[in-house]
Amino acid sequence: MELFGYIAAHFAVIALIIFACAIFDASCQAAVRKIIFDTDPGTDDAMALMLALNSPELDVRAITVVPGNVTAEQGLENALRMVSLANRCDIPVAGGARHPLFQKLVTAEFWHGKNGLANIELPRSKCKADPRFGPDLIIELVHASPHEITLVPVGPLTNIALAVEKDPSIVPLIKEVILMGGSIKGGNVNAAAEANIYNDPEAAQIVFQAGWPLTMVGLDVGDKTLLGRKQLGQLASTHGPVNDFIYGVAKFLVELSEKFGDGGTPMYDPLAVGVAIDSTLVTAPAMHVDVETRGEFTRGETVANRRNEVERNVLRGDRYIIEGVDKVQPNAKVGVEVQADRFLQLFVSRIQGK
Ligand code: BDR
Ligand code: CA
Repeated sequence: MELFGYIAAHFAVIALIIFACAIFDASCQAAVRKIIFDTDPGTDDAMALMLALNSPELDVRAITVVPGNVTAEQGLENALRMVSLANRCDIPVAGGARHPLFQKLVTAEFWHGKNGLANIELPRSKCKADPRFGPDLIIELVHASPHEITLVPVGPLTNIALAVEKDPSIVPLIKEVILMGGSIKGGNVNAAAEANIYNDPEAAQIVFQAGWPLTMVGLDVGDKTLLGRKQLGQLASTHGPVNDFIYGVAKFLVELSEKFGDGGTPMYDPLAVGVAIDSTLVTAPAMHVDVETRGEFTRGETVANRRNEVERNVLRGDRYIIEGVDKVQPNAKVGVEVQADRFLQLFVSRIQGK
């Protein structure tokens, strides 16, 4: 009898939740995160996009394209072919900036294949590009859903900086920014800088200093998420248009990593999407991060203050004297540790059979 009472109470609670969901639709959907995916597709961008499109926790409201791994034209073409492959012509895909704010673009076909997508020729897209300028589309969507949009930029930060410069009122209306870029342990372009930040340091500095909640999923944490032969085998064991495309991309990247003596390919951009799905995948302490825009050897470095303190040096006569220590406010959560196996499993499970 007691057991019966327990079961009845259990079902009553479930019924109540279903009833509440039916009436207060918004509260049940609160768990679904609306994102704008800003990308320079790109092999790991492709994996990140397909992870986002196949994750029920995320609602991709728009894809904006930025030059980086490939030119603006090639990036837009790649994005359109991918949304078409995923049968998602309902998502607006808009081109944006054509070059970084103050410097020439550096493209990375060397790492991503001639077309940026591991030399895989996807069928022509059934989807059409949205005519709006990417940063304008970001502004429009943020105003349409205040406090609900998470930006997930996984390329140079040009489009995001242009949106903020054009309409700073979006800053307090953004829920969160979760970006792939930067590093607090050295770069991949050179000793100091990570590629996305190196490709537009001024834009990155604007984005880091904007004053919104920001999580940096950088190179050093991404390097701990290596997709290798094991996951490749898992992707090979199932089929579907997206599954087979991502298998091809992953195979290209794993083989490339093996040429360089690495045990797998780092899942940089997919990890940023992973954090949007489940923030507990990474440990991310708060720090103050600045982007170096002038250094001779360090332009594009993300300089993180781990102590959130600076000495106060005051000029007294012909020298400075340390007179105390001032606090600096953190402006970013910086990913330092990741539950890599859990993330890789999540990735594979979302792609298999799609
Ligand atoms: C970042 O640079 C690009 O090559 C990748 O797509 C990723 O966003 C890694 O440094
Ligand atoms: Ca990228």
